[in-house]
Amino acid sequence: MNASPNLAAQAAAPPDHPAPADALAPVFAQYPLPVTHATGVWLHTAAGRRVLDLYGGHAVAALGYGHPGWTRALARQAESLNFQSNAVPLDVRTRAANRLVRFAGGGFPSVFFVNSGAEANENALKMAFTITRRSEVVALEHSFHGRTAGAGALTWGAAAKWYGFPRAPFDVRFIPRRDAGAIAGAITQATAAVFVEPVQGVGGAFDLGSEYLAALRRRCDEVGALLVFDEVQCGMGRTGQPFAAQLYGVMPDMITTAKALGNGFPCAALLMTPRVAAAVKLDALGTTFGGGPMACAAIEATIEALEGEDLLANVRRVGALIRERCIVGPVSGHQGAGLLTGLICTRPARDVHAALLARDILTGTSGDARVLRLLPPYTLAAEHVELLRAALLDIGA
Ligand SMILES: Cc1ncc(COP(=O)(O)O)c(C=O)c1O
Repeated sequence: MNASPNLAAQAAAPPDHPAPADALAPVFAQYPLPVTHATGVWLHTAAGRRVLDLYGGHAVAALGYGHPGWTRALARQAESLNFQSNAVPLDVRTRAANRLVRFAGGGFPSVFFVNSGAEANENALKMAFTITRRSEVVALEHSFHGRTAGAGALTWGAAAKWYGFPRAPFDVRFIPRRDAGAIAGAITQATAAVFVEPVQGVGGAFDLGSEYLAALRRRCDEVGALLVFDEVQCGMGRTGQPFAAQLYGVMPDMITTAKALGNGFPCAALLMTPRVAAAVKLDALGTTFGGGPMACAAIEATIEALEGEDLLANVRRVGALIRERCIVGPVSGHQGAGLLTGLICTRPARDVHAALLARDILTGTSGDARVLRLLPPYTLAAEHVELLRAALLDIGA
């Protein structure tokens, strides 16, 4: 086929055609922090600035930066086999799946590896619709589940702000979070699934608690709906337990997870109970990159470090220390769990974020204008908590 006139014209463009100053689409507002490299819990800039990272690249860098075991595992995998798809069996994929199932503590014996949190949620939706043959989904106010058509439809406020698709692919009902009274009316025999982040991330590190989650479980059982925990942000040890399901003692039918799962190598997973796994049919789900050997080596090495270095105990310890030591200066309270901590501020969290960055500490904001969100590496130590405390005291009430 001949090239279209347009393509031909592009090809003929003079080689010195001026390139835009920055070819990146202007999708993200960026912090004034041009990071060149990082070590441990510290980000470094070319100008020699060193910034304490309490945000972890949106909750991803669970092991921090330059972790030797993780780095070695990726280098070795790159040398031996950089890629093969799910069309061929791979030892590293089987090992990663078994390791993740064991890490999740039983109850979820089947894993489907994908690439992102949104993709994991899309596949969970597909399984719920397939199993129940219903078309309605219940989600929570202030939720965040991703940017794709299905996951975005479940995300609170997306339609008004950025959804971008002409319509949601299914019906969604949003219910107020922690409002047990709203459960029975909204979750009915028309409901295929209830999607919930047990600790909401973007919603402000807002923990839903075991009573509320157990009430969702009970209602799902009554009407035959599936319960899906979106643990993309709060899973993989961030609450101090492998998953928030264990923290709250409530077992969903599916767990989706990503972010910390690969410590920065893009990967995600859908964990399924036997009932859900039994409904998976050959060729019904698929992906090119999901479950690739580099991703699986990253997953295996991440879990190896979480378990081998007892990092979940550190998450519990340091998370408690933040709550004990850092309700000072502009911070009046806290919410969340483990190292998904929301610091409730007496002034806009955005201002506190800027004041902390000026003092070389990177934090995150959230959908709640009063809540500063901390998502640090699990390797954070008491000395780093003291740096945060000192900076908050310096900022003042
Ligand atoms: C709870 C939750 N679910 C899903 C997603 C989407 O994940 P991804 O950006 O990997 O698609 C996010 C991302 O922030 C999230 O926090």
